[in-house]
Amino acid sequence: MVNLSGPERERYVQAMFGRIASRYDLMNRLMTAGQDVRWRREVIRRSQLPPGGGLLDLGAGTGDLAREARRQVPGSWVVAADFTMEMMQVGRERSPSAQLDWLAADARVLPFTDNHFDAIVSGFLLRNVIDIPQCLREQHRILKPGGFMVVLDTTKPPQNSLQPLVNYYLYSIIPALGRIIAGDGEAYTYLPETTGSFLKAEQLAEMMVLAGFQQVSFHRLMLGTIAIHWGRK
Ligand SMILES: C[S@@+](CC[C@H](N)C(=O)[O-])C[C@H]1O[C@@H](n2cnc3c(N)ncnc32)[C@H](O)[C@@H]1O
Repeated sequence: MVNLSGPERERYVQAMFGRIASRYDLMNRLMTAGQDVRWRREVIRRSQLPPGGGLLDLGAGTGDLAREARRQVPGSWVVAADFTMEMMQVGRERSPSAQLDWLAADARVLPFTDNHFDAIVSGFLLRNVIDIPQCLREQHRILKPGGFMVVLDTTKPPQNSLQPLVNYYLYSIIPALGRIIAGDGEAYTYLPETTGSFLKAEQLAEMMVLAGFQQVSFHRLMLGTIAIHWGRK
């Protein structure tokens, strides 16, 4: 799958998330031993969304980050955008009272005017996107000056003595969990493949700077396999 590129890769990604939508949240909790809940809290905290402000959760999937924003910031208005309808459908049914605006959109061409949102966040989106620089530029365009973009994603793990342990987890445990829980080992082989082939945390930070973000920084989590990046317009 890592060999696919362009629209072919995009169609593959869309179909895959469509297949696993109903088990996606459960798999996230299992794969991260529930840690992703804590990471999502941090993402929203770092977005510095002001009370009553507007946040875009891009590649929202089932909307965990969007719901966390509504929970943390009273009076906020939140748009949850994704290009896989099945993921949004699951999220919508899971919490109909969350008051989120769900939107079908491609992260490379966002249907908003310039300077629209106070904050933009994404969780595990970028490594799926076929043109990351374009996606970052779009986010920069629709973010208000002074606003933060925060990115939660996997990152290429550093080479160290923990590498065999990390590889065993990524290439054996996760696909096995995917087969048993989600009934889709292939989708959960995609995760380690794309983690291994995705950017290093430093490279993503450089891309954010090139897209126009300032005060760019990041920190790593979960044995260096996850990173949270942030930058300001
Ligand atoms: C791994 S899921 C992450 C879902 C959610 N953000 C989370 O934190 O759990 C990646 C999501 O990104 C979406 N996605 C991938 N490429 C996209 C694109 N170009 N435009 C919009 N959504 C995209 C997929 O449909 C999928 O729902």
